[in-house]
Amino acid sequence: MWLGIDIGTGGSRALLVDAEGRVRAGYTAAHEEMRMERPLWAEQRPENWWDAAVTAVRGALAAAGISGSDVKAIGLSGQMHGLVMLDRAGSVIRPALIWCDQRSQAQVDAVHARLGRENVLRYIANPVLTGFTLPKLLWVRDHEPRNFERVRQVLLPKDYVRYRLTGEYASEVSDASGTALFDVVNRRWSFEMVDGLGLDRSILPVCRESSDPAGTITAEIAELTGLAAGTPVVGGAGDQAASAVGNGIVEPGIVSCTIGTSGVVFAHMEKVAYDPGGRVHTFCHAVRGKWHVMGVTQGAGLSLQWFRNQLAPGADYDALTAEASRAAAGAQGLFWLPYLMGERTPHLDAQARGGWIGLTASATRADLIRAVIEGVSYSQRDCLDLVEALGVEVNSVRASGGGAKSAFWRQLLASILNKRVVTLETQEGSAYGAALLAMVGSGEFGSVQEACRAVICETDSVSPDGDAAFYAKAHRVYAGLYGALKPVYAEIANLT
Ligand code: XUL
Repeated sequence: MWLGIDIGTGGSRALLVDAEGRVRAGYTAAHEEMRMERPLWAEQRPENWWDAAVTAVRGALAAAGISGSDVKAIGLSGQMHGLVMLDRAGSVIRPALIWCDQRSQAQVDAVHARLGRENVLRYIANPVLTGFTLPKLLWVRDHEPRNFERVRQVLLPKDYVRYRLTGEYASEVSDASGTALFDVVNRRWSFEMVDGLGLDRSILPVCRESSDPAGTITAEIAELTGLAAGTPVVGGAGDQAASAVGNGIVEPGIVSCTIGTSGVVFAHMEKVAYDPGGRVHTFCHAVRGKWHVMGVTQGAGLSLQWFRNQLAPGADYDALTAEASRAAAGAQGLFWLPYLMGERTPHLDAQARGGWIGLTASATRADLIRAVIEGVSYSQRDCLDLVEALGVEVNSVRASGGGAKSAFWRQLLASILNKRVVTLETQEGSAYGAALLAMVGSGEFGSVQEACRAVICETDSVSPDGDAAFYAKAHRVYAGLYGALKPVYAEIANLT
């Protein structure tokens, strides 16, 4: 049996997979809500991820009725870009600034001014963005110098959990790519960035390929979790690359669309290529020697979650999507802008704000919900268009994540993306991909591609329906809204 552990935003999930790639048991432990002390700030406590991970591992072992010694290897995956800072004793210095935290625009601008935007693109294949780890670290340097002075180690969320499991400071290429400190083309830390910004090289962990060994379970942790001491932990992957492995996006031609808290369109690349505008990210894949490109909607599932928490407390998502399905396509001319945490693809604008445009007195709650789902899907279409513009061939889109559980949303996605949308037999995403990386790392499969070919199969698909032509027109209206509102966003930012 192999174990995948995913440190998500909402919770941590442990998943046990057998030699045929079948899921034998899974267990999720929820995290505390992210703390948003100010608009566009987002923090979580790494210790809370760790506690949730331990609960999830124990829960999965109990549900499968196996002992830790039955686990041959472990793979980790996790929310990307988060900044975990440890002191000399290996203790967490302050809560982590997580992936959707947008407070660091001044630091982004300062890096580009100091090193030159063109040089940065050459060093890391991407521009620096507020979502990435580096500007968060520089924000701490600029605003909390006492905390910054204590930093001896910087880790990504899943790598903090690795440290607690194994005592090792290690990362791997896919997650490291999202720090803005990693030379994505050459698959190593970018000393041009680190030295150029006067940072200390020793704060970065060693970095490996995703299926290579990176730690073993310590005796103390074996006691706590029920795992066996000495069990190997492989590098693993950032949640998007791990989810791509779990969805079989490890060869050209197939693209995935994962609607979790964020929404991600993800494509495999044999050769590295990047958007000169930096609107989609070019990162190392969890497949040895390969890359991927992805476009990110910051507030995808988050948009519907926000709607539920604020306007339909207690409602479940099935009830909300059923209600949305009673509204007509286009929600009577209502549009949702999903910029609840600024936006990455295609606008790269931390100041962008969300909202409905086009309300009339005849709008119903069903229209509001339908508009939210359509708005998130238009944003995913923006991502897909940019991925295709890089020359990536897209035959079909494999949908996963919470949003893809809804047949209504999948149909709507097919019509808005104008592609066949496919679902897979195993829809476990990141935790499943992490377990597959563990299988490759322990020699059960010779490569990630071999693992995916053996265990992943398509079950269901939907094609664009009669609404597709309408959505093509409506998407053009949606696309114009951001430009019209951009000056207003800057004014709002000045106000607050
Ligand atoms: C990817 C990204 C998110 C997080 C949280 O770039 O920021 O997908 O990894 O899931």
